[in-house]
Amino acid sequence: MNHTVTLPDGKQHTHQEGVPLLKLLKENGLYSECQQGFCGACRTKVISGTVRYLAEPMARLQHNEILPCCCTPTSKLTVEY
Ligand code: FES
Repeated sequence: MNHTVTLPDGKQHTHQEGVPLLKLLKENGLYSECQQGFCGACRTKVISGTVRYLAEPMARLQHNEILPCCCTPTSKLTVEY
């Protein structure tokens, strides 16, 4: 299933559920390091929408933050980074 992801510049992209969100965000300027949920470098704020984790995130997160390297959208999603 595909979901619409709205980036900080307001542009909307279609993203396939099951594919890590980092792929899309990295193509649009998000910095990342480990790409495995450890370092927290890709920490992103969720404005609206939901994700599910493909692997357990190890970095500490605030309630409205996600690690795009190890999650995928499960609904229409708006993020800020
Ligand atoms: S790139 Fe390290 S936690 Fe996502």
